[in-house]
Amino acid sequence: MSTVTLTLENAIAVITINNPPINATSHAVRSGIVDALDQIDGNDDIRAAILICDGKTFIAGADVSEFGQPPKAPILPDVIKRIEAATKPFIAAIHGHALGGGLEVALGCHYRIADSTAKLGLPEVNLGLIPGAGGTTRLPRLIPVSEAVSMITSGKPISATKANEIGLLDAITHGALGDAARDFAKTILSRGTPAWLLARDPIDAPSSAQWDDITSATKKKARGQVAPLAAISAIRNGIEHGPDAGLDFEREKFIELRDSDQSKALRHIFFAERSVAKLPELKGVEPNPIHQVGVIGGGIMGAGIATASLLAGFDVTIIERDEAACDNGRATVEKHIAGSLKRGLISQDRFDALMASLSTSIDYAALSHADLVVEAVFEDMAVKHDVFGKLSLHCKADAVLASNTSYLDINEIASRCINPQRVIGLHFFSPAHIMKLLEVVRTKSADAQSLATAFEFARALGKIAVPCGVCDGFIGNRIMSAYRKHCEYMLEDGALPDQIDAAMVEFGFPMGLFAMQDMAGLEISWATRKRLAPFRDPAERYVALGDYLCEMGRFGKKNGLGWYHYDDNGKAQPDPEVDALVIAESAKKGITRRDFTSTEILDVILGAMRSEGDKILAEGIANNADAIDVVMVNGYGFPRHKGGPMFMTGNED
Ligand code: NAI
Repeated sequence: MSTVTLTLENAIAVITINNPPINATSHAVRSGIVDALDQIDGNDDIRAAILICDGKTFIAGADVSEFGQPPKAPILPDVIKRIEAATKPFIAAIHGHALGGGLEVALGCHYRIADSTAKLGLPEVNLGLIPGAGGTTRLPRLIPVSEAVSMITSGKPISATKANEIGLLDAITHGALGDAARDFAKTILSRGTPAWLLARDPIDAPSSAQWDDITSATKKKARGQVAPLAAISAIRNGIEHGPDAGLDFEREKFIELRDSDQSKALRHIFFAERSVAKLPELKGVEPNPIHQVGVIGGGIMGAGIATASLLAGFDVTIIERDEAACDNGRATVEKHIAGSLKRGLISQDRFDALMASLSTSIDYAALSHADLVVEAVFEDMAVKHDVFGKLSLHCKADAVLASNTSYLDINEIASRCINPQRVIGLHFFSPAHIMKLLEVVRTKSADAQSLATAFEFARALGKIAVPCGVCDGFIGNRIMSAYRKHCEYMLEDGALPDQIDAAMVEFGFPMGLFAMQDMAGLEISWATRKRLAPFRDPAERYVALGDYLCEMGRFGKKNGLGWYHYDDNGKAQPDPEVDALVIAESAKKGITRRDFTSTEILDVILGAMRSEGDKILAEGIANNADAIDVVMVNGYGFPRHKGGPMFMTGNED
């Protein structure tokens, strides 16, 4: 079947795009639409046209294979102008997703009708871009400017229901889209072609003061990203200087952004996330089907993992130590899922069904049918051995057995199991039902089928699964430990906690290292340091400041004192007591303190990340530098628009 087909049904022309998987606006699609337009314009019998797509979705974006290549005519902005100028009314019939250029095509049409489950959005900012085919100029003429600003600067798609409410759609249908579009076409035959969108006035154009507010709110949210601000200037330009100037300005900005470092970084991480879990050695390996998931331990992580598994549609059984702990685990899961209900993400019926799919037990026999089990008990090797011993006894021979350990040696855990080939690591991030990152840890003994099953499980949970090998801290925690050590050295050498944190925030991290430690609580890592003290290399530099804080009863944000002191609103304030402690420690060690600039601080942090990343690559813990970037961006707040520490510091795979 050709990419674009035109059929005539009495007075109605139907243009069907068939360019799987996402009906991208490739050259074949663009020129196919133009050919169809020529035929429609030249045929006096045709009085309306429907633009519809085959397959799973409407046009959901650009053709990534054309990225970075010189544009080939007809370019999308011109195709859309042609649709808009057509002598017959065009109706976009939308199902699945109308994203980016797809929504811009729909905006060029004179009417839009969508399936009730469709989603519509302009996600260009996620790639460091703005819509480049008229989106910033047309959208504010169809829906209120505030809604257009929100869609374009957030990049988040909206539901068909919301789109209908704000005037982006002319109709939604719960039935067959093609039929609904044909019925709709018949109702407009007598109306003729409506005025061009570009000829309309913007809806609720903001005043100059309102633009200032919009700009400062966007700047705050953008945390250093330039595309959302460029989008604001394009929208404003199109409103204040008219559509023609608006379209020119938008195109200019689009091209400028396309060639920017931020867009390159965002495109790097976008593609890295999509390729990181594709392992050639697992190609063609069939994963085991998964129906029932077991979770051992219903604490912070276990309850989050159980929630994520339930939301993915699995039956879940939590095993705990006693009935009270079972009840606690169930209550935490219920709280998480009630959150989804409250936010309108699930219905009451779905909530009830999910809770009915959850069971708890203190008896491992309840896992005799489990297809995959994730252990999330205390971080203690003896406890883990005990749990895996029981899992070996009670689970089916092909059940995948995973540990969520943060630091313990999973090879050692596997070595004591009856079937070590099915033991792997699944290292979730907290909160496990929200954080997208998942490190999938290959043990020495894991077989291909267990790994393939783990990746399939991750996919079902909607996670970004990054394969990695066994080492202390895997990819993410290991890099974090390395740069934390260097931040602590900087404290003794002359920096203060709030200075280091401010440099990190300025760079684009959501918070600095010390504020993050305060939030997590200082006593757990203190306990680990005390446990590891006898094994520490006395020749290695050791910074005891974190230990002193705990000895002083400063355990972090929860008791109002840590690296910072917290005011009544929970806001971190630099604490002179901590600064004095830091300065006294330098004196005690005979270190002459010196000033650090923000740039120097960042150089130290990025250098530490890079050098640990290089070691991780050399040891084969990560398959490539992309995997490290994906982990740091998705699990550790590394600013996405900088692409990750390996990309930023020169990616030499
Ligand atoms: P937690 O203390 O909140 O929960 C542990 C749960 O395991 C408790 O509910 C406890 O009753 C249960 N448990 C202990 N022994 C058990 C046994 N023999 N059988 C059944 N249940 C048992 O701990 P958390 O934070 O959930 O950590 C669990 C694991 O996840 C640890 O290995 C930790 O290193 C790892 N992890 C923790 C992260 C975090 O941010 N908290 C992040 C990633 C991994």
